[in-house]
Amino acid sequence: MCGIVGYCGEKGAREVLLAGLRRLEYRGYDSAGVTISAKGRLITYKKEGKVAGLEAVLPPDFDGPAGIGHTRWATHGSPTDINAHPHHDSTGRLALVHNGIVENHAALRQFLEEQGRTFRSETDTEVLVEYISYVQQREQAALPDALRLALGHIVGAYGIVMVSSDQPGELVVAKLGSPLVLGVGDGEMLVASDAGPIVDYTRKLVYLADGEIAVLSSGSYSVFEWASNTAVIKAEQEVDLSLAAIEKGGYPHFMLKEIMQQAESISDAMRGRVDTASGKVTLGGINDWLDRLLDADRMYLTACGTSWHAALIAANYMEELAEIPTRVEYASELRYRRAIIDGNSVVVAFSQSGETADTLAALQKASGLGALTLGIVNTVGSSIARITDCGIFIHAGPEIGVASTKAFTAQVMVSLQMAMLLAQHRGKSPEVIAAIMADLTRLPELVSDTLSASEGILEVAGAYADSSNFLFLGRGYQFPVALEGALKLKEISYIHAEGYPAAEMKHGPIALIDENMPVVVVAPRGRTYDKILSNMQEIKARHGRIIAVVTELDSEIEKLADHVIEVPTVHPLLMPLLTVIPLQLLAYHIAVLRGCLVDQPRNLAKSVTVE
Ligand code: G6P
Repeated sequence: MCGIVGYCGEKGAREVLLAGLRRLEYRGYDSAGVTISAKGRLITYKKEGKVAGLEAVLPPDFDGPAGIGHTRWATHGSPTDINAHPHHDSTGRLALVHNGIVENHAALRQFLEEQGRTFRSETDTEVLVEYISYVQQREQAALPDALRLALGHIVGAYGIVMVSSDQPGELVVAKLGSPLVLGVGDGEMLVASDAGPIVDYTRKLVYLADGEIAVLSSGSYSVFEWASNTAVIKAEQEVDLSLAAIEKGGYPHFMLKEIMQQAESISDAMRGRVDTASGKVTLGGINDWLDRLLDADRMYLTACGTSWHAALIAANYMEELAEIPTRVEYASELRYRRAIIDGNSVVVAFSQSGETADTLAALQKASGLGALTLGIVNTVGSSIARITDCGIFIHAGPEIGVASTKAFTAQVMVSLQMAMLLAQHRGKSPEVIAAIMADLTRLPELVSDTLSASEGILEVAGAYADSSNFLFLGRGYQFPVALEGALKLKEISYIHAEGYPAAEMKHGPIALIDENMPVVVVAPRGRTYDKILSNMQEIKARHGRIIAVVTELDSEIEKLADHVIEVPTVHPLLMPLLTVIPLQLLAYHIAVLRGCLVDQPRNLAKSVTVE
């Protein structure tokens, strides 16, 4: 959801901003723009479309000691050159990039128009910069003070970076609700929506908190809290984020790289936490809160998108292993619903980015109601990681492809560990846990075996790349996998796809089945295997085309299905970690065959920081 980058220092801003915008493009790619302050003037270029389009129109001598850049995911106003950021005030002395939403933009626009100010774009961001300019003029204040006074009248969420022609080497930054991180370099300062654009230049990071304003100049910075106007001393953190981890590493797309990394990312999610020899699980991030977790009378798992699918699997783990009543809720629903949450509840948020606005809001509500909040998050230093009482990082490494893959499997892995740990403390399910432990040692190898089936899936993808619809069916632990398979396909290939519990097919979707409807049936051997065989008969009887994901050597299903994709045999609770892989690959190959932009599907964003 919109990427922001800013630079001031000895190097010249141009290259840092462009490289940063390329790194941030996963957050939004409707338009891109840069402003550089040079020789007492602010010069801006902005362009609808991707960063490459912006780069193509920049003159060779466009450079200067400070600048700001933005890649946009449109909220207010369509993705045009005019609506692209940065936005200037009407005097041309201030430029601003913004991630978030100004909720009272209409009232402010009207007020400013009454003051004789004019607007060029339809955006809430132009209203913001114009209002700051108005306050600065009225108060005759320096920019940080004007910003402080103006923010008192802004309702909404923002990460803002500003540059002014009056202080050409300086950036002024403010944060409320949208992430911003500072990079402290040698003779230079950076700011960005995440660490990606910064780690090329410095590993020393400062995470801004909500309500803070920072003033950056080459090599130094100061931070203050705008409401109280008091200085804040920030802790600097050294990050260990390798560049290789955020580059494509030889793969044509980040999504494929991230799918193929899953043996490693699943191992990383287990490392130091699961001792298969002793059967012991240790989760340092929740240790101090174990008593409250064990005393809880119910658990809510909340998330959006793919993370919600991981939470569905996690809820099954929690009830099956630990016997704790658990509900799963879309964060966007939970935040507005009257839920029975109190001091005896635990609310667990699942989030790759740790920045999803709805998930954050659901957590804030839960905290307000006295619940213990816990984050299952990938991004260290993210808002969710910081506001939760406790949590478990999934350690999947940076995920850049907009369609989430390795974060899903790592979330499932971590939630399984949590369920096992709680079950052990409650004296529940020892035999099941022992059986899972026995299989966990070979899980990374089984994931690798599943991944090496990629060639066969390419063939299946070729047979169905022109389809208009897809149905995905699964039962029990495979139902969320079916949902995830359908989501992956629609996100990146734009084929309409639905996930259903297999037995529900007869209550509706069966009406859609004919020879043009490919049905992916996730049917590993297990509790409901026979039932799913009957569902497949029903599909066949209506001439549907079946792509079955099965356990190896399943001759029964081979007779019924048009295509069979095998996964190795593993404990049923670990099976979702294998069966989801062919579905990720199927979506990937179909999208590539259809010529879609796999890593940056239309209209989507990696991190959704607005409601
Ligand atoms: C967006 C992304 C999805 C992601 C969802 C939740 O829609 O495109 O891939 O699953 O947000 O994001 P989170 O970072 O909270 O897991």
